[in-house]
Amino acid sequence: MIIVGITGASGVIYAVKLLEVLNKVGKETGLIVSEIGEKILKYELGLSVNDLKEKSDYYFEYRDLTAPINSGSFLFESMVIIPCTMKTLSAIAHGYTDNALTRAADVALKEKRKLILVPRETPLRLVHLENMLKICKEGGIILPAAPAFYHNPKTIDELINFIVGKILDILEIKHDLFKRWEGVMLDK
Ligand SMILES: Cc1cc2nc3c(=O)[nH]c(=O)nc-3n(C[C@H](O)[C@H](O)[C@H](O)COP(=O)(O)O)c2cc1C
Repeated sequence: MIIVGITGASGVIYAVKLLEVLNKVGKETGLIVSEIGEKILKYELGLSVNDLKEKSDYYFEYRDLTAPINSGSFLFESMVIIPCTMKTLSAIAHGYTDNALTRAADVALKEKRKLILVPRETPLRLVHLENMLKICKEGGIILPAAPAFYHNPKTIDELINFIVGKILDILEIKHDLFKRWEGVMLDK
């Protein structure tokens, strides 16, 4: 199972696309959404958590610290927090796990499973960068929501697909969400 966590940052559309793609390739998913994440889902996409539950196999309550994902004995494969706020990133960096989302990330790090955090925030202050460094040193992957442009995107969907594709690369899931750089003569 891949746990998809949604926190209260701009860019919840990335999470919706990720859930859809994981669903399509037949990967089992577990969804967890922070309280502010729920509000931003409504504001940016007009979606409720119930709408997203239809796109995931399991749903875990954010405040339920007894949910299976709180325990290292529950064998989820990896976790992606998308988008990931600076608050949640800070909680993970410092091991402050007062909800099921940050606790699941804590479990992923301590059990040496893949943890991918997708921050959207810009610009970044020193403490944001320090927290990212802390997580990185422990094996967590910081994958900023910063799409490339070398594949000549024409639509928002293509920009989103680039980020989701990068996540799938790390999860070692084959995809054709973006055209890979094959090299060109730049001076032509
Ligand atoms: C519309 C909106 C957009 C936001 N975007 C971001 C963002 O991109 N990055 C971020 O770190 N916080 C952002 N925030 C602030 C977080 O929602 C806030 O820090 C909150 O406490 C995060 O809680 P959570 O991590 O439990 O979801 C945003 C808030 C609002 C209302």
